[in-house]
Amino acid sequence: MPSLSALLLSAGTSVLAALHVQAGTYNLYQNNVGADFLQNFVWETTANPSGGAVEYTTQSAALAANLSYAYGDTFVMRVDDTTTLSASATGRQSVRIKSNEQYTTHAVVFDIRHMPQGCGTWPAIWEVDDTVGVANGELDIMEGVNNVSPSYTTLHTGGSCTMPANRTERGSTATQSSGNNGCSVSSPYSSTYGPDFNANGGGWYVVERTNQAISVWFWSRQDSTVPATVSGGGSTINTASWTSPPIAYFPSSSTCNLSANMMSHNIIINTMLCGSWAGSRYSASGCPSTCIDYVNANPAAFSNAYWDFAALRIYL
Ligand SMILES: *[C@@H]1O[C@H](CO)[C@@H](O)[C@H](O)[C@H]1NC(C)=O
Ligand SMILES: *[C@@H]1O[C@H](CO)[C@@H](O)[C@H](O)[C@H]1NC(C)=O
Ligand SMILES: *[C@@H]1O[C@H](CO)[C@@H](O)[C@H](O)[C@H]1NC(C)=O
Repeated sequence: MPSLSALLLSAGTSVLAALHVQAGTYNLYQNNVGADFLQNFVWETTANPSGGAVEYTTQSAALAANLSYAYGDTFVMRVDDTTTLSASATGRQSVRIKSNEQYTTHAVVFDIRHMPQGCGTWPAIWEVDDTVGVANGELDIMEGVNNVSPSYTTLHTGGSCTMPANRTERGSTATQSSGNNGCSVSSPYSSTYGPDFNANGGGWYVVERTNQAISVWFWSRQDSTVPATVSGGGSTINTASWTSPPIAYFPSSSTCNLSANMMSHNIIINTMLCGSWAGSRYSASGCPSTCIDYVNANPAAFSNAYWDFAALRIYL
């Protein structure tokens, strides 16, 4: 996208934020396809969290081991699926990436062909400032564990924030949105996650953040109701023209001022193994052995633990 966005960017985020105070038309700001991911994201080598089974790799190490692959219209990030690990290993090699830039009000189209699946996997896409944490707000756009559909969308805030029980999202409604539990919404479609998502060829997640509301939409690959600008990579999108209801909707209100709770955020894409969620739900999900032992002993079980992105389009 030419000059208007670039000009506005140099003028600072507050100007950008002022442009879109309500749902409506956005212009393509950054089109990530294939090798664009290598330029516009950083490979985070965050430490393996407590109970986790990952060892995050640098971009150069990931490219060398083909744990990251960017060619043509394909960007893949996977976990190592060949190495048998000892019980004392830190974890299985994985990839976690973060956008170089931060965003306030914006929209993103995630065109995803495949997401990590398998026992022990915890794929996630979220927006946060991970140098600060939940105090600056956090939106978990999609995540799930151990092949169990559907996906979850969760809003976290540092303070006390309550969502109205009558909002129009179609998942189950939780009203609490503070601390680490957050306000979590489960998608109404099994095709939003894991093996069902992949069997359908993936689909499109779209997030829109304004000062009035945060919305997340999902269309499966074969869903004929997907807006043409979403499936076709339009240079503009108009969320106000979409007739499909979002799968998750978090309005700003007197009990939750989004502008006061949600600061500038990076976009993060991750493949976690085990850890606080996939680990604690591991047996209940019908998975064998224990999570860490399974990850260490069964590299081939992770051959489908990969993301394949057709595009990630950021709109302002
Ligand atoms: C690297 O990964 C890509 C994407 O999955 C695959 O097409 C390619 O064959 C792999 N390359 C090697 C050398 O294994
Ligand atoms: C939902 O409840 C809020 C008050 O909590 C009210 O202002 C709003 O009009 C209601 N919305 C709908 C769609 O009923
Ligand atoms: C919401 O928070 C923003 C940023 O702190 C502030 O400017 C605005 O006045 C607040 N709105 C209301 C209705 O309190």
